[in-house]
Amino acid sequence: MYQPLNEASRKYLYFTNVRKNLFLMSIVTMIMLFVLSLLSKTPPSVPPSSKYGIITLFSKNHLCETIHSCQTYATIPEIKNKIIPLIALYASDVSKKDLETYHYHCPYVQLRPFTVSSYPEYFKDLKNYRFKFPTVASVLPEFKTIMYVDASIRFTAPKNETLTDMFKSMETQFAKTGFRLLGKSFHHNYPVTHPDMYAFFNVTEKQMKETNQFHSGLYFLNNSPAGWKVMNKMIQCALQPKCMAPKGAKARCNYRLLKENKHILCHRFDQSALNMRLIELYGKNETLYYRPSSIVNIVQMSKCSL
Ligand SMILES: *[C@@H]1O[C@H](CO)[C@@H](O)[C@H](O)[C@H]1NC(C)=O
Ligand SMILES: *[C@@H]1O[C@H](CO)[C@@H](O)[C@H](O)[C@H]1NC(C)=O
Ligand SMILES: *[C@@H]1O[C@H](CO)[C@@H](O)[C@H](O)[C@H]1NC(C)=O
Repeated sequence: MYQPLNEASRKYLYFTNVRKNLFLMSIVTMIMLFVLSLLSKTPPSVPPSSKYGIITLFSKNHLCETIHSCQTYATIPEIKNKIIPLIALYASDVSKKDLETYHYHCPYVQLRPFTVSSYPEYFKDLKNYRFKFPTVASVLPEFKTIMYVDASIRFTAPKNETLTDMFKSMETQFAKTGFRLLGKSFHHNYPVTHPDMYAFFNVTEKQMKETNQFHSGLYFLNNSPAGWKVMNKMIQCALQPKCMAPKGAKARCNYRLLKENKHILCHRFDQSALNMRLIELYGKNETLYYRPSSIVNIVQMSKCSL
């Protein structure tokens, strides 16, 4: 039988309802906040449909240089419009403020941390460049083809070949080797390669004297058996104490003597190793792994400011 509620029980019901609603609302709000915090913490993920990716690496001491470099990426439509994702992997010495500065100048670049903490001590010195190939290899499985870009590389608006054309060349002319270099230096390989390196690569001094050194600061690499054939040996070399950065190796070179091609004067670390690997696999026939492009402009900055 229906019984009108008295004043006290009506108040009681009213407040329990309000309390129930408040409780539910706060749960919903908490769930929403939780989901939002998850979303904001997840690094921007690469669209799975993307076949091509661009990778660059930087540490704190190259921050200024790398920002000058990434600003020039905007001249390439595929990068500016985020059609081809560009990932900058940063070392553990890069601060939150550095990342904000980077993002301010180059908002089209995805930032992602990398670490060398699990590697042996001799590996961790970033100045011997052992970290480069293993770090690039850690991203390669995400894509069919990647382009690697050093902080010293500037891009200019493409004239005869778009960035997409360059990626496509990896499915045609360079499919066999899975590797394409784009720049050549004025000097030969011999004077800039430490003698200990010959123990690791089946390459002769004669071959090194007869070949110009290619720049390793920019290359295309396929996630294919051929691409990994180059990459796996580069990783092995990076992990061998006497390969890539042998004891006594120095980057500084006497430029006058370089042209003579008679004496070993200095060492180019990962670049010397990569040149040896390509000669070891494919000899001196550079058409198998080299075609220049007007897109690239290599700049060595002595001073840098933002
Ligand atoms: C070293 O390379 C030469 C060709 O340059 C080849 O004939 C020889 O079999 C190779 N040696 C080894 C041990 O792979
Ligand atoms: C170099 O390789 C290309 C492509 O495989 C070939 O067409 C050319 O004949 C080779 N050149 C030499 C000198 O072996
Ligand atoms: C584009 O231009 C460069 C020189 O700037 C040249 O070496 C290269 O072969 C050209 N590429 C094509 C596809 O024509």
